[in-house]
Amino acid sequence: MEIIRQLEQKRDQARAGGGPQRVQAQHDKGKLTARERIELLLDPHSFEEWDSFVEHRCNDFGMAGQRIPSDGVVTGYGTVNGRLVFVFSQDFTVFGGSLSEAHAEKICKIMDQALKVGAPVIGLNDSGGARIQEGVASLAGYAEVFQRNVMASGVVPQISLIMGPCAGGAVYSPAMTDFIFMVKDSSYLFVTGPEVVKTVTHETVSAEELGGAVTHTGRSGVADLAFENDVEALLHLRRFLDFLPANNRLKPPVRPTRDAADRVETSLDTLIPSNPNQPYDMRELVLKVVDDGDFFEVAPAFAGNILTGFGRMEGHTVGIVANQPLVLAGCLDIDSSRKAARFVRFCDCFNIPILTFVDVPGFLPGTDQEYGGIIKHGAKLLYAYAECTVPKVTVITRKAYGGAYDVMSSKHLRGDVNFAWPTAEIAVMGPKGAVEIIFRNDAGDPAKIAERTEEYREKFANPFVAGHRGFIDDVIRPHSTRPRICRSLNMLRDKKLENPWRKHGNIPL
Ligand code: HXC
Repeated sequence: MEIIRQLEQKRDQARAGGGPQRVQAQHDKGKLTARERIELLLDPHSFEEWDSFVEHRCNDFGMAGQRIPSDGVVTGYGTVNGRLVFVFSQDFTVFGGSLSEAHAEKICKIMDQALKVGAPVIGLNDSGGARIQEGVASLAGYAEVFQRNVMASGVVPQISLIMGPCAGGAVYSPAMTDFIFMVKDSSYLFVTGPEVVKTVTHETVSAEELGGAVTHTGRSGVADLAFENDVEALLHLRRFLDFLPANNRLKPPVRPTRDAADRVETSLDTLIPSNPNQPYDMRELVLKVVDDGDFFEVAPAFAGNILTGFGRMEGHTVGIVANQPLVLAGCLDIDSSRKAARFVRFCDCFNIPILTFVDVPGFLPGTDQEYGGIIKHGAKLLYAYAECTVPKVTVITRKAYGGAYDVMSSKHLRGDVNFAWPTAEIAVMGPKGAVEIIFRNDAGDPAKIAERTEEYREKFANPFVAGHRGFIDDVIRPHSTRPRICRSLNMLRDKKLENPWRKHGNIPL
């Protein structure tokens, strides 16, 4: 039958993308094609493709004779470990994956459907940007996608995997999604490319240096994770999705574990060094507490003074935020505040309880920080913790000083369960600094200062002053941290807390 023949022909055309040469060029760059990527991301045979017959409507610049079914983006839905997700995957072999009006409509269609049924949207970006032959129609297409990114924000998880170029205004769609992953050496994100930069600022910089994976995961903090190649990135994305709920009305999936809730970890009793100025690795604590040592760290290369990531406790996803004494002594600064604030807000959007480990000597001092606006940036984290209504469990392992004590999910910001280890020091500031201020007149007498410092340390550098006031609920032995957190999270499973009605709050952006 003629119609079936035509159908097969169109399907073959769509599958062939930009043709064998362009596919080969894609492979030569170490990149997979749009369809190969979908195959790896989704469960076998689960992909339902939509709109493979869609073609662009442009007749200018010789485009009338060049129509390729699918028009540079493969869209549809499928499952990841049995759970529904929507996906679009840009096909660089077709007009460089550039976004035409029709290409944008395809993306918008799956985003609209994902919102209706409450499932995540995953974007695999590999595009030369706006379809140059189409002009403003393409810009309109971008804006339609942006609007949907905003409407979907906090309703369904949105994840971008950058697997090729993503430049100009096109970067703002990934920028509004919840997480951005990149592939090293083959992906880049920038608002203006190296040539424009050279013309305007006379700086010479490669695309990789300007907007590659290492730059964005380490320096700008725009992207969360960098992977070696397409395969690694897609497999980790599958693992990542397992931590997340399908939408804001559901809880994350529960993964049964053999790791006992009452597992004690005696090695934690010696984690804190006897010298309060000596660092230790907070990651070790996280790994020893979560189920099976499985911690999916987010943004490990940016603002290393705070750890953020997902783990599970008794099979239930938790978002973990932890000061890291190994970097800047665990101080809060601009970057760590921004990083953790966005993470806390993500968890709050998607019903993920927050587990906070605190060892913070305070905010990082300095002109860099003050001129850079630490006041506003630090306030973001404070705001995020104070606003969130998901269960919050906090463990102070050592220092909790000054404003940073308040910020780090303290009781006063509606922390549900706040524990301290016996090594906790909860006070306005460290003993030495405190004595230098309140006993300034004794500054010339080192023996007296030492005596006063010791006095201050004994009085305040412990968990009991806060304990007397009920600011912490209990002092727990480090080895019992996991069992105590598990019990607390169980108690909080059906927590209900609502903020007052408002259009939206005004977080200090
Ligand atoms: C139409 C495009 C295209 C585009 C690439 N192609 N970008 N076609 N519109 N934007 C086509 C090329 O003509 C080529 O077609 C094929 O895709 C592969 O491109 P190459 O240049 O051969 O690939 P490569 O050498 O890898 O370079 C990739 C690239 C480069 C760096 C992305 O193609 C490039 O600079 N493209 C233009 C980028 C750009 O200026 N985009 C507009 C930005 S403004 P053939 O037929 O030869 O295979 C923008 C605004 C968005 O995006 C605003 C949103 C608000």
